[in-house]
Amino acid sequence: MTDRMKDKVVLVTGGASRPGLGAAIGERLAQEGAIVLLSDIDLAGVEESAALIRGQGGTASAVQHDVASQDDWDRVMSGLLAEHGRLDVLVNNAGILDVAAIASDRAVGALRSQFDVNVAGSFIGTQAAVAAMRTSGGGSIINLSSVAGLVGFRGSASYAASKGAVKMFSKSVALEVAAENIRVKTVHPGIIRTNMQSSGADDNSENYQAIEAAIPAGRLGEPRDIANCVLFLASDDSTYVTGAEFVVDGGYTAQ
Ligand SMILES: NC(=O)c1ccc[n+]([C@@H]2O[C@H](COP(=O)([O-])OP(=O)(O)OC[C@H]3O[C@@H](n4cnc5c(N)ncnc54)[C@H](O)[C@@H]3O)[C@@H](O)[C@H]2O)c1
Repeated sequence: MTDRMKDKVVLVTGGASRPGLGAAIGERLAQEGAIVLLSDIDLAGVEESAALIRGQGGTASAVQHDVASQDDWDRVMSGLLAEHGRLDVLVNNAGILDVAAIASDRAVGALRSQFDVNVAGSFIGTQAAVAAMRTSGGGSIINLSSVAGLVGFRGSASYAASKGAVKMFSKSVALEVAAENIRVKTVHPGIIRTNMQSSGADDNSENYQAIEAAIPAGRLGEPRDIANCVLFLASDDSTYVTGAEFVVDGGYTAQ
């Protein structure tokens, strides 16, 4: 353990999945001394993720939270502020991937559900975090977009639309709050070995094989690759970084 995040109060959404990015981010920030609250719609799963962090000597707790629900955000944020008095870092990580070709009957339904969770969930969270951070002198908001928010992926139009929206609302909010010492950034993972990646590969196996073969680094990403980038953006090493996009994809979108 070192102390790049010592005593910082952090909320990471979507922390139940293992292997998953939220659990890995929570673990990494806790290793650096953060006080971590992991949230997820899956309470049993997120309690287990928090227990694993405590088992390593970190400080972590868990709460049930549907990020698409305004009422849930109100409850989670007021509980966090009542307990800790402030929020230093929010990682809007919870997200869903619903692969649906444009001609599919499900395409529009998939668009709406992914916008509810991926866009509205992160947007409401950003709004709640800005309100909390204004009263405590600043903070860092990190929104998980995707390489699908930067370049096209066959079969993923609705997911890509949601991740492009996350990128663009984050930049605009960054401008609104920069003078108040609140930083807003997006992280764009490539293909990372998590439960989401495995289910996406099952639904769209031909495209996935082609994508994997085209990763210049020669391997899939690991959750810790993303967690290390989030650590930089959450820590005081990045106090002059806002409104920016961080691509962690083994070079995939450099081609
Ligand atoms: N794994 C990748 O290759 C990859 C690539 C690019 C972007 N991302 C993004 O990174 C984030 C994390 O991805 P992951 O691979 O860990 O996914 P995952 O599917 O493994 O985990 C996502 C977690 O979010 C939770 N969740 C889903 N809907 C929720 C809701 N309404 N409220 C609260 N929690 C909810 C799930 O229960 C799960 O624990 C997502 O936003 C995803 O779009 C992942």
